[in-house]
Amino acid sequence: MRVLSGIQPSGSLHLGNYFGMMKKMIEYQEHEDLFCFIANYHAQTSLSDGKALASGTLEAAANFLALGMDPAKSTFWVQSDVPEVQELAWVLSNFTPMGLLERCHSYKDKVVRGIAANHGLFAYPVLMTADILMFQSEKVPVGKDQKQHVEVARDIAIKFNNQYGDIFTLPEPEIDDDVATVPGLDGQKMSKSYGNTIDFFADEKTLRKQIMRIVTAPIDVEEPKDPDACNVYKIFRLFMTKVEDEALRQRYQAGGLAFGHVKQELFETVRDHFAPHNEKRHELLADPDALKKILALGADKARHAAATTLCKVRQKTGLAY
Ligand code: ADP
Ligand code: TRP
Repeated sequence: MRVLSGIQPSGSLHLGNYFGMMKKMIEYQEHEDLFCFIANYHAQTSLSDGKALASGTLEAAANFLALGMDPAKSTFWVQSDVPEVQELAWVLSNFTPMGLLERCHSYKDKVVRGIAANHGLFAYPVLMTADILMFQSEKVPVGKDQKQHVEVARDIAIKFNNQYGDIFTLPEPEIDDDVATVPGLDGQKMSKSYGNTIDFFADEKTLRKQIMRIVTAPIDVEEPKDPDACNVYKIFRLFMTKVEDEALRQRYQAGGLAFGHVKQELFETVRDHFAPHNEKRHELLADPDALKKILALGADKARHAAATTLCKVRQKTGLAY
C-alpha cells in the first residue's frame, strides 16, 4: 500500500510530532510503500528567513534519518526538490471551491492567533492535496489536526475524477486513536505554538526542565490518584508496554506516589530512548554534503513517480497539446 506523509521543517521536534506521525512512518517502511518528505514549501507560510528555512530543512531531514528513516526502504525527499507539485497544485486549485478552504479549521485558527491571512496560508490545503494526489497515496498518517486537510484532498480528487475519469487514488487519513493528540505540559495539545512541548532532542538540562514543568494537580503524596487525569501519566504511557502501563496505573491508584518522582522517571526514559538517535543526528549534521546526496537520490525517486501522474493530468486537462 502507498503511504505518504510530510512534516514541516519548522523548529525543534517534540513528542507530539514523534508519536503523532514520525514513529508510525518509520514503522511503515518495513511493510508498506512509504513516501515521506520535508514540507519546506508549507513552512514558508510561517517562516520567511531564508537561512533559517535552509538550515531547518537539513536538520529536519537529519532528524528523520536519525530516528530510523531508511532511504533504501522508502522514498524520502525535500518537497521543493520536486517542484512539479506546484504545477499540480495550480491545476487542482481550479477544482477547489472557495467554501471548502474557508471551512478549514487550521486556517481559521491560525488567523485568530494573529498569523497574516495571506494567500499562501489560505491555499495551503491545495498544495497539501497536490502532495497527496501526485503520489497516488492511499493512506496518509497524520495527527488529528491535519485530518480535515486529507478530507479536502479526497473531495478535490473526487471532483477531478468526476470530470476526467479515475486519475487520482482517493486518500484516507490514518489516525492512531491511542496517540491522536499527545498532550503538552499544560494538558492542551502539545504544539510549538502553545509553548508546551517536550523537545526530545534538546540538551539534558532543557529536557529535564520541560518535564519538571508538566502541570499536575495539588494532591497529597499519600492520596490515591487517577492516572487518566494526570498529564505526566498520559505522556509516560506512550513509552510503555501494556505490562509497564498497568504497573504505573497501580502505583497511582495505591497512593504514596510523588509526581516529582514520576517526572524524574519520565525524564530518564525520554533521555535514554532518544540518546542513540541524537548521536546519529549529530553525525549526519556534521557532513551536510553526504546528507544532500541522500536527499538528491530521494528526490530522483519521487520525481520519477510524480512524472507518471503529471503526464496523465497534462493530457486530460489539455496542458499537453
Ligand atoms: P505543531 O503543532 O507543533 O506546529 P506540526 O503542525 O508541525 O506541529 O505537526 C507535524 C506533525 O506532527 C503533523 O502530522 C501533526 O499532526 C503531528 N502532531 C503535532 N502535534 C501533535 C500532537 N500534540 N499530537 C499528535 N500529533 C501531533
Ligand atoms: N501540513 C502538514 C503539517 O503541517 C505537513 C504536510 C504537507 C503533509 N503536505 C502533506 C502531511 C501531505 C501529509 C500529507 O503537519
